[in-house]
Amino acid sequence: MAENGSDENFEHKLVLHRGFNLISGTHAPEEVDRILNWEVQDSDVFGVTFPKSGTVWLQQILILIEAKGDPAKTNGQLSCERVPWIELIGGKEKFVAESSPRLRVTHLWPKFLPISLRQGTGKVIYVARNPKDVLVSYYHFHKYAKMLETPKDFNDFYEKFMDGRVYGSCWFEHVTTWYSLRNEMNFLYITYEDMIKDLRSVVEKICEFLGRSLSESEMENVVKHSTFKNMIHNQQANYSLIPSSLLDQEQGRFLRKGTVGDWKNYFTVAQSESFDRVFQEKMKDVPLSFVWDISDLVNT
Ligand code: A3P
Repeated sequence: MAENGSDENFEHKLVLHRGFNLISGTHAPEEVDRILNWEVQDSDVFGVTFPKSGTVWLQQILILIEAKGDPAKTNGQLSCERVPWIELIGGKEKFVAESSPRLRVTHLWPKFLPISLRQGTGKVIYVARNPKDVLVSYYHFHKYAKMLETPKDFNDFYEKFMDGRVYGSCWFEHVTTWYSLRNEMNFLYITYEDMIKDLRSVVEKICEFLGRSLSESEMENVVKHSTFKNMIHNQQANYSLIPSSLLDQEQGRFLRKGTVGDWKNYFTVAQSESFDRVFQEKMKDVPLSFVWDISDLVNT
């Protein structure tokens, strides 16, 4: 970071690599290409998300499941150290050096992931979130993540998101491509909104998928320590210890609102209608539905 505290060291540049936007300086295209040949074990777990869909939430749940609900057993590691992104520079070295169970997250498209996942080795958990809330959460993230370009205003970011000119590229392509491969790998699909509605059921589903069995009190503890209200105060989980050269903690926070339907506070009627038209067109062949408002959760 520059001495005056500005983020002029970052280029704020997206690098289009084989159709997918990476972040210059954060990702190295040649390293990303090598992920394909990583040797995966059955016990490896890959959490996959489009950015701002609840990655940090899944990290916390996975960590706590392995720790049987006891935060003291997590060795004080930050969640991004215990469950790192595979696409970050140096990801391979960490992966090779770590013992089982290796827990990882990624925002990449499936074509970049280890081939052996499609041969039934390892496990994938995909978390999807309604894309209007993703857009709003990502807008705020761009304002305080120093490696990303600060949007001029909400409309500027709206246009970028709709064009896929963000890290993670196009939301529609991300969710539809991953979902289309659900029968080709050990794959669990969950949604952010289901986690908001009934966190315990989702944690139970994840445990079943991973073949982990927890006692009643262990399960209660996993759920308790994964709630927004508890994570927000947990420095291991809330990303507040990430250096200010990367995240300007004065401009925002990772655990921001943690709700469903915040998009209504940002989208104009025209933006929402235009979004709905794109959604209907792009998702017409995909049997996925989303919850757009917190009040709809009680009716589903
Ligand atoms: P908001 O910005 O809408 O609050 P990611 O980890 O993929 O970047 O996603 C971050 C989003 O997930 C943020 O959304 C954050 O608040 C939300 N989130 C993280 N943990 C959560 C929890 N325990 N409960 C609800 N939302 C959570």
